Amino acid sequence: MENNTTQRDAFSSRLGIIAAAAGSAIGLGNIWKFPYITGQYGGAAFIIIYLICIALIGMPVMLSEFALGRRAQKNAIGTFKKLAPNTPWFLTGWLGLVAAFVILAFYGVVAGWTMAYVWKSILNQFAGMDAETITNTFVGMITNPVQPIIWQVLFMALTAGIVLGGIKDGIEKYTKILMPLLLVIILILDIRAITLPGGGAGVSFLLAPDFSKLSALAVMQALGHAFFTLSLGMGTMITYGSYISQHENLGTTTMQVTIADTVIALMAGLAIFPAVFAFGIEPSAGPSLVFITLPNVFNQMAGGYFFSILFFFLLAVAALTSSVSILEVVVAYFDEELNMDRVKATIIAATSITIFGAILSLGNTDILGSIQLPFPVSDGIHDMNIFDWAVEFTDRLLPVGGFFIALFVGWGMNKEDFEDEVHHADHGKAAYMTFFWPIIRYLAPIAILIVFLNSVGVFNALGIKLG
Ligand code: PHE
Repeated sequence: MENNTTQRDAFSSRLGIIAAAAGSAIGLGNIWKFPYITGQYGGAAFIIIYLICIALIGMPVMLSEFALGRRAQKNAIGTFKKLAPNTPWFLTGWLGLVAAFVILAFYGVVAGWTMAYVWKSILNQFAGMDAETITNTFVGMITNPVQPIIWQVLFMALTAGIVLGGIKDGIEKYTKILMPLLLVIILILDIRAITLPGGGAGVSFLLAPDFSKLSALAVMQALGHAFFTLSLGMGTMITYGSYISQHENLGTTTMQVTIADTVIALMAGLAIFPAVFAFGIEPSAGPSLVFITLPNVFNQMAGGYFFSILFFFLLAVAALTSSVSILEVVVAYFDEELNMDRVKATIIAATSITIFGAILSLGNTDILGSIQLPFPVSDGIHDMNIFDWAVEFTDRLLPVGGFFIALFVGWGMNKEDFEDEVHHADHGKAAYMTFFWPIIRYLAPIAILIVFLNSVGVFNALGIKLG
């Protein structure tokens, strides 16, 4: 190995790496997206498929990304160039860079809505509003050409500020304080929600599966979301892996990050659905679920004013520790492969992504709303605006990235190198490697391929029914 390990910025402590990687994983995906797709795709049955995707595909891919990054001591693209020189594998890193651009573009917009809601909560704007007025307030906000962009720019500036601080002084310092805070606030919301009269229906929605509601699209969503929520398939965990100390056990880190992410998602569901049912709100409301439902709920809760501020603050904090990890993918690439200095890299990356995100935000307004792009889903081709298109597109892009990462580890790189990277911090061979190889070589790529083809309707078109 090159001796550049010592010069490279790295996480200084065990808590630091877990806080940063868990901070990346836990975000809008857990608290905004997981509840709304769970509501749309039928509750408990969807959650079971999602948990299977996390355990069987997500965890092995996360271990792979950590090991690749730490082995190469490079960014997402540099990692493939270094481990497989003069081969096209580096294109996998490029795919990740594209995903990072698109994800952070819409992510910044949704995080901006969240910040706007912190502000609206502080001003007590929702007090006394009926359900319809609350809905109109949300729709009015996202269809406004200026307001969401102002919040998005503010959020992206905060993201860039943390990334500018560098890994050790920036990302690690903030996540170490903010992540435990997040846990406490969700716990308080859980207790409040579960004790609401009539909340029990929400708990059984999350726990009693109805498999008749599952579709090919639901399975694709579950897989895509498993990648999204664990920050996989685009090189985030490769980049973070390159900052993990050589003494760290990667299997343990993978386990801890996955458990933290899954627990927070389920806790977020537990905070939202009992309340949704207690107040007779539609669980399948979609991306607006958090933004339309919860102000109604808070309005009818003792202490709702404070819970509302806490909740949206928590969502913004979670989004921030994720957005820094997405920006870091691009900055590490500019910095190391293009030899740009870190400040310049951060400014250029953040500015271009912010502009792209602002354009996507205009897709929700009259200005660019007339641009409708087709997107293939299992029950046909749907037209959607550019904002929704970008969200859907990345859900498909990340599993594709994961597919190539699995193929690379399984078939493209030296098996001994990989095992050495996983093992050198443990004494001896980790028992889970017996499961790891068949999964990464066969199960993960084949499963991703089948779910992917099924979701774009290939099996339907061929007349094959997968149930
Ligand atoms: N995992 C983050 C979330 O759940 C989003 C994310 C996706 C972060 C991809 C990094 C890479 O909100």
